[in-house]
Amino acid sequence: MSEKDVLTISHSEGNGLTGEMRLPGDKSISHRALLLGSLAEGKSTLAHLAPGEDVRSTINCLRELGVPLVEEEDKFVIGGQGLRGFAEPKEKLDAGNSGTLTRLIAGILATHPFKAEIDGDDSLRSRPMERIIDPLEAMGAKLDSREGSLPLVVTGGDLLGIEYRPRVASAQVKSSILLAGLGASGKTTVVEPGPSRDHTELMLEAMGYPISVDENRITVSGPHPLDPLELKVPGDFSSAGYFIAAACLIEGSQLTIRDVGLNETRTGFLELLTEMGASIELTNSEEHNGEPRGDLVVSRSDLTGVKMTEDQVVKSIDELPLLAVVATQAEGVTEVRGAEELRVKETDRIEATVTNLKNLGADIEELPDGFIVRGRNKLSGGLVKSFRDHRIAMSAAVAALVAEGETDLVEPEWVEISYPGFFETMEGLLHG
Ligand code: S3P
Repeated sequence: MSEKDVLTISHSEGNGLTGEMRLPGDKSISHRALLLGSLAEGKSTLAHLAPGEDVRSTINCLRELGVPLVEEEDKFVIGGQGLRGFAEPKEKLDAGNSGTLTRLIAGILATHPFKAEIDGDDSLRSRPMERIIDPLEAMGAKLDSREGSLPLVVTGGDLLGIEYRPRVASAQVKSSILLAGLGASGKTTVVEPGPSRDHTELMLEAMGYPISVDENRITVSGPHPLDPLELKVPGDFSSAGYFIAAACLIEGSQLTIRDVGLNETRTGFLELLTEMGASIELTNSEEHNGEPRGDLVVSRSDLTGVKMTEDQVVKSIDELPLLAVVATQAEGVTEVRGAEELRVKETDRIEATVTNLKNLGADIEELPDGFIVRGRNKLSGGLVKSFRDHRIAMSAAVAALVAEGETDLVEPEWVEISYPGFFETMEGLLHG
């Protein structure tokens, strides 16, 4: 193993996180802004897009589909092609590591009268795609896959709206169907089993598309032109999570996080931390294109364990590995159940979380659909792995700061999927 493949992280030694920070742009909103901007009538301008590899994959795929995308200083200008204006790709579309890109772009390709192949890395090739194949085929597209996984060949055409009830509450599945519905005839309705992140719905509203949201029932009435978008993407709440957690756990911390997205379908982790006793103050809240954002001030806090409700699972799905880390430092029991979706993320996040935390000495029990942590645990340095998953890498880094001694993190570079510069930013705030 080369030196680059292992990062040694030392205990924070009471150096709290202090000062102010801003985060990279929200990844979920960035994917959607690029995709919807490319379907608009006219030019959209997007500032502060997520800088990681996932969103880079979206930019590359759109270019392959003939969408002009020009980078100007910190902005991207997209020439919208209209709802069904993509050019037939000459090469296969490389979605890299991104499940969001794969599922959302498949919905758009389903409305285009040509064949396009989507492929990705080993992680993406192992993730379930039948959850989008079934509804998109019911609308009239053809999707050929390798037994429900990538590579996926989408043959699109004239679609008819449907009413669909996905089995899981998934924003990716919901958005895939709604995006197919934009170019379809008639009404397309998704009835969710529970509320998932609603960035697609808010952006469609901001772009003047006829959409109705009645609790968990979302309907688009197509086809209708999309107005272009002027957007400054808020800081990514999921990326903020690692700094919020570290500031709650490390003695002497007082950290201000500026301009972070606070859409309440995303901030379950904030609710959970508050329930656990964390001191987190919200200031300067405002709204832009329907998305709430604001500043957070986080201080070191004494925490107690928490038992989650099903509703909180979807709202904090990407932060659950991090919650396990926090729970090791909270008095009492933290239980996460009903989170089996974690098994089909970039890696099996339940197994990865339990393996890493056990290696550092945590009292954590694996459940089929979650985990139980019995705190408070004294963690000590050891070996942890990213499991080639950006969120596991960043969660492990927070655990390493709390653990006594030194921890070796294997394949840390996977943070680049969503947060290039993560380790440097953390280091700067610890010594800030
Ligand atoms: C995302 C939705 C979630 C989340 C993922 C991003 C999105 O996945 O885990 O990181 O941008 O729509 P599911 O919709 O599959 O739960």
